Amino acid sequence: MTSSPVARIFLFLLIVLGVYLWIGYAITDLTGGGRKSSAAVDISPEGGEAIYWGKGRCFTCHSVGGQGSAVRGPNHGQFGEKFPLPMGARAAERAKERSDKEGAAFSAVDYIVESMASPGAYVVKGYKNEMAVVYAPPISLNLLEIKAVVAYLLSLGGDLDMEVIDAKPSEITQKFYAKIAAAAEAGGGDPGLGATVYDDNCSECHTLNGDGGEVGPNLTGISAKGLKFISEAILQPAKSMTKGFETYVAINKEGRQTVGLKTRDEAGEIDITKANGDVVTIARTDIKEIKIDDTKSVMPDDLSEAMTVKDYQDILSFLMLQKPKPKQ
Ligand code: HEC
Ligand code: HEC
Repeated sequence: MTSSPVARIFLFLLIVLGVYLWIGYAITDLTGGGRKSSAAVDISPEGGEAIYWGKGRCFTCHSVGGQGSAVRGPNHGQFGEKFPLPMGARAAERAKERSDKEGAAFSAVDYIVESMASPGAYVVKGYKNEMAVVYAPPISLNLLEIKAVVAYLLSLGGDLDMEVIDAKPSEITQKFYAKIAAAAEAGGGDPGLGATVYDDNCSECHTLNGDGGEVGPNLTGISAKGLKFISEAILQPAKSMTKGFETYVAINKEGRQTVGLKTRDEAGEIDITKANGDVVTIARTDIKEIKIDDTKSVMPDDLSEAMTVKDYQDILSFLMLQKPKPKQ
């Protein structure tokens, strides 16, 4: 038995560490093994305001008048010449334009709910299609939280009618709510089902644990890159293009375009691999122009539209299980 001072200090530290760990487990046990359900949401402008500036992370891209400093998305308040109307009144105006154009009733609530349920459906002029899918990971708002945020935005200069938001939504809004509710129901997603969705939609281009196509990067161990990265890579592939997988546009002397990845580059000729896996060889002397298009990935950006929200959550949980293999 050693009793050198160093050994005793070490033993003491181990005991302290053990006590902390035990307290940690005990507390988790007390509260039911983690946070199962979130606190009740108040479907009101105040409840929505709390989510807007908190869990919803809207403030990371939007400001409300002089409140906040984010400019990636439109300001939701009245602000300078660019934003003469706050969001509630702006939604009413946009909805009216839309109703006039399409001849079918479309309300301010429909407009705001649509911007969250299908952010790509109507992209505000001057902005990119960068609005977050706020009911999918990592933000994962549930339907009640979305309704609260809608109440908050509508209360900014609009006619706040809680009936229309909560009790008696229009047919259009109901459809969007159903989409959001399905996402919430999927919870953390089912990795078993996600594997099938992956095989159907992704494996032709990506290798995983030795199987699959080679158009895109190898996804073995992809969970190391984190949930936020993976979800963005699927929803908006062009936003952060993987290095070495840039999209090339080669134009030959007759003006014909070939778009894809540059998979071979030699003195005399290059290979462009198209999204469908076809390889096109082009002689250097035949190339009029070759450039990188950083606005478009070879990975389709509408994959999430082909999948249901549940498919999407299932696939995320499947990919989050793809842990890096230990080095041998
Ligand atoms: C990653 C950045 C980002 C986050 C996070 C984000 N948004 Fe957006 N949002 C945008 C961008 C960019 C646009 C403009 C493009 C578009 O219309 O899709 C937009 C548009 C909107 C619009 C339409 C605005 C208008 O003037 O018509 C609404 C409403 C909206 N967002 C609400 C929200 C809410 C509510 C949240 C939080 C729950 C949120 N956004 C989170 C980026 C974001
Ligand atoms: C047509 C081929 C193609 C299909 C189908 C495809 N991808 Fe991709 N993927 C690519 C290419 C090319 C890249 C690299 C360019 C980029 O980052 O957008 C990429 C990049 C990625 C990345 C980032 C990898 C990294 O390490 O940076 C992820 C994650 C990803 N894809 C997941 C998926 C998932 C999940 C699916 C199915 C839902 C899918 N891909 C379907 C071609 C494809």
